[in-house]
Amino acid sequence: MDLLAWYPWFKAIHVMSVIAWMAALLYLPRLFVYHAERGAPGSELSETFKVMERKLLRGIMNPAMISSWTFGLLTLVSLGPGFLANSPWLHAKLLLVVLMTGYHMACARFRRDFAEDANRRSGRFYRMINEIPALLMVGIVILVIVQPF
Ligand code: HEM
Repeated sequence: MDLLAWYPWFKAIHVMSVIAWMAALLYLPRLFVYHAERGAPGSELSETFKVMERKLLRGIMNPAMISSWTFGLLTLVSLGPGFLANSPWLHAKLLLVVLMTGYHMACARFRRDFAEDANRRSGRFYRMINEIPALLMVGIVILVIVQPF
């Protein structure tokens, strides 16, 4: 089978998945900010935040991450074995994507803490970590589009 013929389709689905993944990665910690500052454990607001956080993680963030990886790797495979070897920028991109995945895992853990009424982190903490995916995304897009090396 000529996988290269599928390259534009794999890449299109990859970019759609990445958009959904980034939207969720940027939004979930915003919910954590409001949850930490306004949603005292046991309050109705806290229970509402729990539902929103669970649905965002399970309904969008997890599937979008799986799809981003699956179609990113399919895009790579469709370009043939020489592509990765000849693209140093892609090695750097994959390193940043691994960090993005680590951030995703950390957010999943923070969500579990909120679900168990066990969050001890401040709204300021969540406000600060919210910059991490934005910075990683800037680096990834520059690497993938500008290909500086
Ligand atoms: C999850 C693991 C990922 C893998 C394995 C992966 C792999 C790839 C590959 C092989 C390409 C094709 C490159 C080319 O045709 O020159 C690509 C394109 C692209 N990737 Fe990823 N990627 C991943 C995650 C991400 C993330 C997290 C972002 C953004 C935050 C991203 C943004 C893009 C964009 C914008 C393109 C299109 C570039 C173009 O058309 O020139 N990718 N990806």
